[in-house]
Amino acid sequence: MRIAICPGSFDPITNGHLDIIKRTAEIYDKVIVGVLNNSAKNPVFTAEERGKMIGMVIKDIPNAEVKLFSGLMVNFARNNGATVIVKGLRTVADFEYEFQMALLNKALDPDLETMFMMTDTKYSYISSSMIKEVAKYNGELEGLVPAPIIDIIRKRFREIKS
Ligand code: PNS
Repeated sequence: MRIAICPGSFDPITNGHLDIIKRTAEIYDKVIVGVLNNSAKNPVFTAEERGKMIGMVIKDIPNAEVKLFSGLMVNFARNNGATVIVKGLRTVADFEYEFQMALLNKALDPDLETMFMMTDTKYSYISSSMIKEVAKYNGELEGLVPAPIIDIIRKRFREIKS
C-alpha cells in the first residue's frame, strides 16, 4: 500500500490545502494529513482544533485521515508507513523554502521522497496567513476556506477581539 503524507500547520486549512489533499488521494492508496503540533508558532487554533476542522472537510475522502504530530516529520512519516511526502507549490518563494526542506528531509531519511504538486491557479493566492488577515477584519471567507469551517473561524476571531 502506497501511503502519502500531506504535512502542514493548517492554521486553518484552506481550499488550496484541501485541493492538494484530494488530488493526492487520487494518486496514492492512502493519505495521512499530518498536523504539526507546535505551540512555538503561536497558532490561532490548537492542534486539536485544526485536526478537527480537517476531519470535518475530508470526511468524504475515503482514503484520507488526519493525525497530529510533533517532532520530526520524517519520523512521523516512517512511523505511519509512508513513503512519500506531498507538498503543494504556489509560487517560486514556496519552491525555495520547500526545496530546502525536501533536501533536509532526504538527508534525514533517504527512503522518503518529496513530491511537489502545483496549486490549481484558482487557489494560488490563498494562504492560511491571508485567511487570518481577512478573518481579523471580518472579510468574506466564502471560496477561500471549506464552507463547514467558516463559522468556526469567524467565532474564533470574535473571541480574540472581545
Ligand atoms: O504549513 P507549514 O507551516 O508550511 O508546514 C511546515 C511543516 C509542518 C511541514 C514543517 O515545519 C515540518 O515538517 N515540521 C516538523 C519538524 C521537522 O521535521 N523539521 C525538519 C524539516 S524543516
